[in-house]
Amino acid sequence: MSNPNLKTKIPQLEKELRLHQRAKSIWMTGLSCAGKTTLGLGLEKELFHLGYFIQLLDGDDVRSGLNKDLSYSELDRKENIRRIAEVNSLYNNSGIITINCFISPTNVIRQMARAIIGADRFIEVFVKAPLSLCEERDVKGFYKKARQGLIKQFTGIDSPFEEPVNPDLVLETSIFSVDQTLATMIKFVVPHIQYQK
Ligand code: ADX
Repeated sequence: MSNPNLKTKIPQLEKELRLHQRAKSIWMTGLSCAGKTTLGLGLEKELFHLGYFIQLLDGDDVRSGLNKDLSYSELDRKENIRRIAEVNSLYNNSGIITINCFISPTNVIRQMARAIIGADRFIEVFVKAPLSLCEERDVKGFYKKARQGLIKQFTGIDSPFEEPVNPDLVLETSIFSVDQTLATMIKFVVPHIQYQK
């Protein structure tokens, strides 16, 4: 064990150089049915075609695996995001860009994610749509069930959603099409993830 190389980690910077990118956590927050997953999938594809190496993390996926022991109480939502933020940090340490699609409903929760990941790696994107439109979209029928009292603590119905105070980017999915919104996001994100010495 006298070889000093065996005692040090490969720095994030060297991994970023190998992948030719800057590792950031793109963090989409917004109501259920605001468009986070659609935009996340679209962004992942577009960035992948541009040559970036990305991991997409989505609420429904994570909650059916890593976080399947968690409920939608305030405390469990915080734990949900804490674990996800730690996962983001690991990916970013490996030079990998992440795209996150989580309601992450409160300022405290999002601040915690920012603190765990590191402010310099965290890009907050508010996927904004009025509750009335999200409820109209109701892709999974959850809003209807929440109104009937069949699902408790549903965000926007009987659980709060606080709009982010100072997000890096706001995407209004009630005004702009998916293609327009994606184009805006790519234009904003690419300068942050481009490798520069
Ligand atoms: S978060 O509030 O803890 O950040 P997360 O993004 O992981 O939520 O999960 C949200 C997804 O879980 C929703 O898109 C929806 O499909 C599902 N879901 C099930 N029950 C609820 C609920 N009570 N509130 C919000 N989303 C719920």
